[in-house]
Amino acid sequence: MPTGPAKLPPPYRIKVVEPIPFLSAEERRLALTEAGYNPFNLRADQVTIDLLSDSGTGATSAAQEAAAALGDESYAGARSWFRFRDEVRDLTGYPHILPVHQGRAGERILFGSLLKPGQICISNTHFDTTHANVELAGAEPRDLPCPEAADLDSDEPFKGNIDLDALERVLTGPEGHRVGLVLVTITNNGLGAQPVSMANLEAVRELCRRHAVPFFLDAARFAENAWLVREREPAYSDWTPRQIATRAFQLADGCVVSLKKDGLTAIGGLIGLRDDDLYAVCEANLIATEGFSTYGGLAGHDLERLAQGLQEVVDPAYLRSRAASTARLTQMINDAGVDTVQPPGIHALYLNAGRLLPHLAPHEFPGHSLGCQLYLDGGIRCAELGSLYLGGMDDEHQLVTPAPFELVRLAIPRRVYTDTHFEYVASVLADIAKAPERVRGYRIVSSPRLLRHFKVRLEPLAPGVVA
Ligand code: F0G
Repeated sequence: MPTGPAKLPPPYRIKVVEPIPFLSAEERRLALTEAGYNPFNLRADQVTIDLLSDSGTGATSAAQEAAAALGDESYAGARSWFRFRDEVRDLTGYPHILPVHQGRAGERILFGSLLKPGQICISNTHFDTTHANVELAGAEPRDLPCPEAADLDSDEPFKGNIDLDALERVLTGPEGHRVGLVLVTITNNGLGAQPVSMANLEAVRELCRRHAVPFFLDAARFAENAWLVREREPAYSDWTPRQIATRAFQLADGCVVSLKKDGLTAIGGLIGLRDDDLYAVCEANLIATEGFSTYGGLAGHDLERLAQGLQEVVDPAYLRSRAASTARLTQMINDAGVDTVQPPGIHALYLNAGRLLPHLAPHEFPGHSLGCQLYLDGGIRCAELGSLYLGGMDDEHQLVTPAPFELVRLAIPRRVYTDTHFEYVASVLADIAKAPERVRGYRIVSSPRLLRHFKVRLEPLAPGVVA
């Protein structure tokens, strides 16, 4: 049997399948026009390969579905709750576990209970809902990514790290007393799916201890971070992914987790806590807004799938195969002449649209343009992470502050697509890369003020017209 990681097949075979649609080029053009050129507005049955998100989009296993059949739907104290709670306690070591229906519900409850108006929440990078929930609590989200993250091409192993010097400067400076929380996102979804090292987490813990500031993890991709630690941080090369994940949770005072990623389920989330008083406040908030503390908005069958999924996700064979699959797709895309954020992460790869489409200025949204072209040419759906999403706009929707990079995220659902699907994706991109100048820019037609990228509507610029 071959032993090279790239040569082994995934450690599962496919038992249940779902057909995917193939639309004609004209049907795709019409669909995108009707969607206001925003892929979030497409119907899923208009999409051939859906790389919009890795959240809740994975396949469940036979063992998860078998467990789901045993789901106990009792209102309080269900058997399924105890199975889930024990599994999460064992994984994280936190004594207090609160279930929530998804990550952002956990953010709302945690920040609403922990942060006071006027405080600062510091992160390596806040995810968009995390950012919004910090603001809804009246606090200020502040991102301090490490300087290495700014070089998209370098092979630095831990570009997801928080900038420790900058964190210390804030904690010891005049704003130090305003810092209410340090929240480290593993892996750093907002910055190229890059992992955070254990050394970085240890240093954050020390700084937070010294300044008596709570340190939490946003651990949506805790297992994938653990795998990359094992691969890239020599001190952990003979630890299991589960041991590494447990150690990461141990370093923090608590966590908020979207389980729609590494829980290997369509729905779910949790808050993990050590502090008894904070737990009591969060629990009251949970009962009032999500559900009783033994189900938190989830059904018993969801809790069963999650308890099983949390065991499967730390299987080294699964993580090795998933990491190798993303790395292979990245290699195919790089070979086709399209640069991506390096080194490859696991849950997504990030195309450097700014570099591929130098004829488009940031206010013509090169990332969005590339995303639309992937749909028009191949029925592939993905998400822009550039000036449309992150840029500063004035009241007329004109771009005032461009994003630092014009990226497109291809998110990889778990256990869903095969290498053949990925060869197709790479071939569509390769064709775009042969004549990138034909990709047109876009301008905004209408836009909401908050969380713009979800509901914005655009139109393409006529060839040769500058916005
Ligand atoms: N934190 C991170 C790092 C995330 O990536 C997400 C969701 C959340 C929190 C919120 O969790 O969706 O369960 O409410 N990320 C998805 C994505 C939506 O596509 O990256 P949620």
